Amino acid sequence: MEYIESKSGLTFSRMSLGCMNLPVEDDIKTEEIIEYALSQNINYFDTADLYQYGENEAVIGKILNRYRSRYNFLTGTKVGNEFDKTLKKKIGWNPGRKYIKTQVKESLRRLEIDHIDLYQLHGGTIEDDKEETVLAFEELKSEGLIRSYGISSIRPNVIDFYNKNSNIDTLMLQLNPLDNRPVELLEDLKDIVILARGPLMQGLFTGRHEAHLKEKFPDGILNYSQMDLHGIFDTLARQHDDLTALSFKYLIDKGAVIVNGVSSLKQLEDNMDSFKKAASMTNEDSRLLDELFKKEKYEDHRL
Ligand SMILES: NC(=O)c1ccc[n+]([C@@H]2O[C@H](COP(=O)([O-])OP(=O)(O)OC[C@H]3O[C@@H](n4cnc5c(N)ncnc54)[C@H](OP(=O)(O)O)[C@@H]3O)[C@@H](O)[C@H]2O)c1
Repeated sequence: MEYIESKSGLTFSRMSLGCMNLPVEDDIKTEEIIEYALSQNINYFDTADLYQYGENEAVIGKILNRYRSRYNFLTGTKVGNEFDKTLKKKIGWNPGRKYIKTQVKESLRRLEIDHIDLYQLHGGTIEDDKEETVLAFEELKSEGLIRSYGISSIRPNVIDFYNKNSNIDTLMLQLNPLDNRPVELLEDLKDIVILARGPLMQGLFTGRHEAHLKEKFPDGILNYSQMDLHGIFDTLARQHDDLTALSFKYLIDKGAVIVNGVSSLKQLEDNMDSFKKAASMTNEDSRLLDELFKKEKYEDHRL
């Protein structure tokens, strides 16, 4: 496993585990996935207060604590979305200092830890009082409740603000060969670790691309219709037997940490096999991606 160090000293494994889609209603299945991830030297576990309205943090926190004496790993969570856990509903957006400083205690309690390695703002708009948000994160760092902070955003104007006016260590955004909109921004973000969420575009870059396409993208996505995507993924699959490895190779070349989301142990096992294959792929293997996918950019929230 290759590791990437952030400017404030967090060391991320190139492949990490996104915990959003873990089967947290089943502790045993979730533990099998986490235990396998640790055995594969995955060391970053990404969750959020919002996932299953607090339940995701609680389940993965309890499981991870059982492995703390055997493995070194980082836990990242997120804040900013107000939610009602009884109604199981998101109810608002709050990047305020008071809210963040209250919610960090809730996340620490659910995760059963005394500090969070990476605390991320879970979204945000240019209209937010961003200086106040930065102040909250800096205070939490000084108080020792978090080691580092980052943002999850797909808004160029918001990303630019935090890049220039804060000590963010990480930026999470969706990145894969199809959703390549962030690529134009990467040059300016060289000292920030990019956490690539959606690395398999909800399963399109897998052997089950037909099924995922039908189920999840009935109206297509970005500038592609469902019909376009059928054509593209058919062509890809005819020329490559492992679309997952192809997407991982693309992300490794971009220097990103892959935040791999899975809902079963089998998916993670398959993805780790593909990850190992990706390391030995050449640029020739990924050339087709440039031919098949348009170079996109974010249309809204630009500077
Ligand atoms: N705004 C944010 O901050 C934000 C938003 C989204 C995600 N995230 C983070 O990023 C992580 C990854 O995002 P994501 O879940 O959207 O990633 P993704 O790579 O786009 O999709 C993951 C899904 O792809 C399918 N899949 C994965 N491996 C597969 C395999 N080998 N065979 C068949 N299907 C496979 C599964 O779908 P099925 O479960 O349907 O089988 C899995 O749940 C999340 O866990 C979370 O930590 C953050």
